[in-house]
Amino acid sequence: MTDLFDFKAPKKNFALMGNPVSHSKSPVIHKSFALQCSKEIEYDLIQVDIGGFDQAVSHFAAHGGAGLNVTVPFKVEAWQMCQRNGNKLSERAAMAESVNTLQFHHDGSVSGDNTDGIGLVRDIENNIRFQISDKSILLIGAGGASRGAIGPLLQSSPSKLHIVNRTPQKASQLAANFQSMGTITGGSLESDASAFDLIINATASSLSGQLPGILAENIHAESMIYDMMYATEPTPFMKWALDQGAAMAVDGLGMLVEQAAEAFRVWQSVLPDTSSVIASLRKQ
Ligand code: ATR
Repeated sequence: MTDLFDFKAPKKNFALMGNPVSHSKSPVIHKSFALQCSKEIEYDLIQVDIGGFDQAVSHFAAHGGAGLNVTVPFKVEAWQMCQRNGNKLSERAAMAESVNTLQFHHDGSVSGDNTDGIGLVRDIENNIRFQISDKSILLIGAGGASRGAIGPLLQSSPSKLHIVNRTPQKASQLAANFQSMGTITGGSLESDASAFDLIINATASSLSGQLPGILAENIHAESMIYDMMYATEPTPFMKWALDQGAAMAVDGLGMLVEQAAEAFRVWQSVLPDTSSVIASLRKQ
């Protein structure tokens, strides 16, 4: 006779939607979390054509999908989807104006969240053990990656946050939008020649092997450098900053794992341990 309690919870289906997605480490990360937390999941990669995001999401949800991660270039479309009648948007996703985590409910509604910013802050504070409170921050870039980081960074009470961007108006506009949350300014890449404690590259420059173009004076001997991009080799920006005398430079692998952990928490109500997953990805 089979034991009454010998049953398995049904597998929940998750996926990452974006374009491209084939390079993604998300399936490995989420399957490690699931194993650790004794959850049964599937986690797929779904490459979606431009213009096909809404339809792809509806199809996934209609076939029993429990949740989605969303990546480039669909985070803003996901945010727009969650603003429609009946759907929900977390405060941090509203602030970021982008969504990287969708959850589907039985009544057909969708909740949207953004775990990128908290993932960045947890990596900096918990893994690297750099405390943001009272530190000066230079944030490079004024696109979606930068916007998602601003709210969570300001919540950690830096002494100031200066955003710089190749197109300076975008940085000034972003700074104006977040005025009420803390000491925040914006300008061109060379608009502030002072040295900063924490310098975060949130531009796409590393993708093309370029430097984002900040001043060498922005770096001092205690500066912590964070590049949101990750690769097997240190990025050109990390190498350049270390050559200028920065204390330490790290890539965005920890942020990737931390944002995934927070998405896992949103879906499964349990926050997995990230350190073992980061260590195993580093070995690869
Ligand atoms: P994401 O959502 O990843 O932030 P995005 O919205 O396209 O992508 O923003 C890309 C950011 O990288 C922008 O801040 C962009 O600067 P512009 O606003 O001037 O375009 C910045 N960027 C891209 N390539 C860059 C480079 N080679 N040097 C400096 N900044 C760069």
